[in-house]
Amino acid sequence: MPLEVVRTASAAPQSSPAREPGTAPTPLGAFARALKCRECGKEVAKAPVHVCEFCFGPLEVAYDYDGIGKVLTRAVIEARPQSMWRYAELLPLDGAATVGAQVGMTPLVRAHNLEKKLGLRELWIKNDAVSYPTLSFKDRVVSVAVSKAREFGMNVIACASTGNLANAVAAHAAQAHLTAYILIPHDLEQTKIMGTQIYGANVIGINGTYDDVNRLCSEVAGKYGWGFVNVNLRPFYAEGSKAYGYEIAEQLGWRLPDHVVAPMAGGSLITKIAKAFGELEKLGLVAGAGTRYHGAQAAGCAPIADAVRAGREVIKPVKVPSTIAKSLAIGNPADGYYAIKTITGSGGFAGAPDDAEIIAAMKLLAETEGIFTETAGGVTLGATLKLLDEGRISRDESIVVSITGNGLKTTEPLVGKLGTLPVIGARLADFDAFHTQKRSS
Ligand SMILES: Cc1ncc(COP(=O)(O)O)c(C=O)c1O
Ligand SMILES: [Zn+2]
Repeated sequence: MPLEVVRTASAAPQSSPAREPGTAPTPLGAFARALKCRECGKEVAKAPVHVCEFCFGPLEVAYDYDGIGKVLTRAVIEARPQSMWRYAELLPLDGAATVGAQVGMTPLVRAHNLEKKLGLRELWIKNDAVSYPTLSFKDRVVSVAVSKAREFGMNVIACASTGNLANAVAAHAAQAHLTAYILIPHDLEQTKIMGTQIYGANVIGINGTYDDVNRLCSEVAGKYGWGFVNVNLRPFYAEGSKAYGYEIAEQLGWRLPDHVVAPMAGGSLITKIAKAFGELEKLGLVAGAGTRYHGAQAAGCAPIADAVRAGREVIKPVKVPSTIAKSLAIGNPADGYYAIKTITGSGGFAGAPDDAEIIAAMKLLAETEGIFTETAGGVTLGATLKLLDEGRISRDESIVVSITGNGLKTTEPLVGKLGTLPVIGARLADFDAFHTQKRSS
């Protein structure tokens, strides 16, 4: 049985070499062979490109799994530092990570209080609300993308973002001494904007939706040749999310759960958790469990969840997203089609709570488990509640809920929703009066 709050397994054994804190292990070889088109299967050399020149399909990193299988064992992984880089052979760098060495290995928390409240047998929270350094799972994808950009010799890093990616790119660019250009919808949460500007990045608000920002970024990437983490570096960047999946499996004691519920914006994370579990199975590091992947989006912007729920394979883009979950507000998701395939192919489903249900779920998670998540986490837990009610998730199976961002970043929608602050005088008599009144009310 794994520990209840699984930060990690034991410390490195005596035989492992002394390592300077904050450095990532060097992989036992470069196993990312090439980029491969997800549609036509053609392969091209690793480069900052994301679209197949033959059929315009998206490119994905292809690995030499036979080679990985010869060197990567549970013991090798467990002896390494507590970061996402303990799975370095399964990530797309040619050498050690040069930025973000301490990212990952966030807590997997057994949610006993929520289990009791909801009548569940086994519920876990994978908590990237405390991801280092910028409090969302985007630290994972960005540490890979920026390290890869350095391997390619790029010195300007850029992105289109709904907020969390902006924070992570700005912080990692600062660490790597790279110039950062960050384009965001102008009306994001203040904390997300300031939490990007603080690192000295060039932050530009665009008058438009995320999809407008993304289109502009594709044009800028083509013209300026910068490393856009989620455009021309996307095949490498997206692989970083796999570590979230590897960590869940290892922290469960090298076991896969019956259900994973994941938030979806572009739709990449959910596909990469599934890819990670599949790779671990292929390498013989875990036994297959027929995990069902369930997607969560906000009702006000749910192009992927709506398609799943309607039994469609085709996304109908949402032109004007309207939700407090701004980090998930992508109307035309780049990986939407693949997210649908991951969900339906596994026997999973999707849920789309509205804004009131998102806030209620944020409060529920905070009050039961002491975890303050951002609106995206409210979407994920809110969707989980709906899927339980609909019988799509069975109460006696193991469930992992993916909490991917921190509540301190999205406080605006909570204003006026948590009661007014009682203010009293500083004398004991004032407190006594307050307490007496409270008890009688
Ligand atoms: C907190 C949070 N969770 C989940 C996601 C969804 O990620 P993806 O675009 O990979 O679906 C995002 C994307 O911005 C996010 O900010
Ligand atoms: Zn192709």
